[in-house]
This record gives sequence, C-alpha cells and structure tokens, in this order.
Amino acid sequence: MNETGRGAEGMSTTASVISLADADATLALGEFLGRSLPPGTVLLLHGNLGSGKTTLVQGIGRALGITDPILSPTFTLISEYYEGRIPLYHLDLYRLTSEEAANLYLETYWDGNEYPPGLVAIEWAERLAERPESYGEIELVISSEAAKSTTSAGRQATLINNGPTPTFTNLPSVSKLHKA
Ligand SMILES: Nc1ncnc2c1ncn2[C@@H]1O[C@H](COP(=O)(O)OP(=O)(O)OP(=O)(O)O)[C@@H](O)[C@H]1O
Ligand SMILES: [Mg+2]
Repeated sequence: MNETGRGAEGMSTTASVISLADADATLALGEFLGRSLPPGTVLLLHGNLGSGKTTLVQGIGRALGITDPILSPTFTLISEYYEGRIPLYHLDLYRLTSEEAANLYLETYWDGNEYPPGLVAIEWAERLAERPESYGEIELVISSEAAKSTTSAGRQATLINNGPTPTFTNLPSVSKLHKA
C-alpha cells in the first residue's frame, strides 16, 4: 500500500466541498450520509481535534435510527451499534500508533467475513493500516484558522472518493441538506 492509500492509477477525486456553518449543519451532512450510503461503506474522517468528526457520526447514527448516544470513543476505541437500519461501526484511532492499529485487523469491519455489512466511520483514520478497495474520505477544517474558539467558527468539509466505486454521489446542496 502506498502512503496515501490511493490507487496506483490515482483513483481519487474530490466529490464536493461543503460549508458547514454550525454544528447542526455537520449533523445534517451526517444525516444525509446515513440515509443514502449503502451497507459496506467505509468513511475515513480526517480533521484536527474538535473539527466535528464525532458530530458527523452522530448525524449518521440519527439517520440510521440509533438512539444510543454516540460519544467520542477515544477511550473505547470501537463502538458497535446494531439498533439502526444497518449496523454502525464507529472507530477512533487517536490513541493508537499505526503499528497498534495494524494488529487489530480492523478490516474485519468491512471485509464481510466477521461483521454484518454496515457503515464504518473512522476518526483519525490516518493511523489505519489497511484500507478497503473503495472508500470515502471526509476532511473537516475549521473555517477560520484565526478563530480562538473552535465552537464559534464554522467548518468546511471536503468529500473525496477513492477507488473504483465512488462513495459520494448526488450530493445535495447545503440548503437542501438543512431542509431534509
Ligand atoms: N460546522 C460546525 N461549526 C461549528 N461548530 C461545530 C461544527 N461541527 C461541529 N461543531 C462543534 O465542534 C465541537 C467538536 O466536535 P466533535 O467532538 O465532533 O469534534 P471531533 O473532530 O470529533 O474531535 P476529536 O478530534 O476530539 O475527536 C463540538 O462542540 C461540536 O458541536
Ligand atoms: Mg471525535
């Protein structure tokens, strides 16, 4: 595997850049993804501390009908939710080295052998050793680098398709996300 995990043919395309004015917008994007992504989808979430990764996963969980609270699993590492329309596997690799992550064989969450197919959302996914053939990446950036409080500035989300099967298709405009 190469460093970025992108295919040798450079199969990586930016699907969309979306402005998320507040936490509700991040939730709304997550809800859209939870409604529209098929089981087996893997999402790699990137972004600084507090950039909104867990908030996005909370939106996904809401759309799937998960009522258990989705918290930042920094200490639990992996949370599995089975009460929704399809399973949600929420991973947070913040506390792991790449070597430790490799020893966990996290690909069992998407290779279809051990776990029923669901949505796999991975925070701090740069530590992931093995990537699936196709996956979506979401990079969250705090809009104003100068902002002192990370909660008052908006966020910008860049959605990237990797591999032969695009993850993000037919993305709605932000205004439609809010009405949904
Ligand atoms: N678009 C947004 N605009 C402003 N604030 C937001 C936005 N999205 C999320 N937030 C807020 O940012 C804070 C941090 O969010 P969150 O915990 O989801 O970040 P995180 O990326 O998971 O952090 P960590 O790296 O610690 O896991 C929360 O208070 C959340 O409500
Ligand atoms: Mg988090």
